[in-house]
Amino acid sequence: MTTPELKIKICDNLHLSSILESDKAALLKHLDSKEIYNTTLNIPSPYLVADADFWIRKRIEHTRKQGKEVTFAIRDDDAGLIGVIGADGYEFGLNHRAEFGYWLARPYWGKGIMTDAVKTYVHYAFTELELLRLTAHVFAFNPASARVLEKNGFKLEGHLRKHFCKDGNLIDAHLYGLLKEDLL
Ligand SMILES: CC(C)(COP(=O)(O)OP(=O)(O)OC[C@H]1O[C@@H](n2cnc3c(N)ncnc32)[C@H](O)[C@@H]1OP(=O)(O)O)[C@@H](O)C(=O)NCCC(=O)NCCS
Repeated sequence: MTTPELKIKICDNLHLSSILESDKAALLKHLDSKEIYNTTLNIPSPYLVADADFWIRKRIEHTRKQGKEVTFAIRDDDAGLIGVIGADGYEFGLNHRAEFGYWLARPYWGKGIMTDAVKTYVHYAFTELELLRLTAHVFAFNPASARVLEKNGFKLEGHLRKHFCKDGNLIDAHLYGLLKEDLL
């Protein structure tokens, strides 16, 4: 197995690290999930081999061009990739803020994992990516994600009515934001 280039500890058995070609099988397994599809915007359903190939290739190219990781695998020492967290569209040095997102494989929900992963990512973003502001848009019917953000100090900055359109349905969203100075 290839050794990930960057490894950032979340807790004893979990860490953030680079997305690898070898993550394809885990993506296909974990993203074959309506529950994850329903509360996210950019994950296709059904999730196909071509989707995994495309996304992995984009991630690897992005890292090569930027010279910085902006999106990570959430890795369990035994199970490998169990989730993803990152700001796919962020280009290093071009903006002071970034929108980020995350998902966790269904069997791992409710154990505090994403709360800890977000804490680790926020620290990385404010130090290594030189960001001053992070935002996240959460569907109004996703209280678990809102809670993860609130537990990490994010402030509810707005209720966005009919902000997203998914499968023909208009969806209200909550905008959460965190400033680097909020953590000082
Ligand atoms: C949202 C998600 C990342 C949460 O990950 P997780 O590791 O289970 O989250 P945590 O265990 O760290 O924290 C979840 C919190 O939400 C709370 N929660 C869960 N379901 C809830 C509900 N229906 N109503 C209110 N709170 C809820 C939990 O009690 C916990 O808070 P607590 O620690 O104060 O008790 C995960 O469910 C997921 O991947 N969902 C699908 C993808 C997604 O929604 N991504 C985010 C898009 S914005």
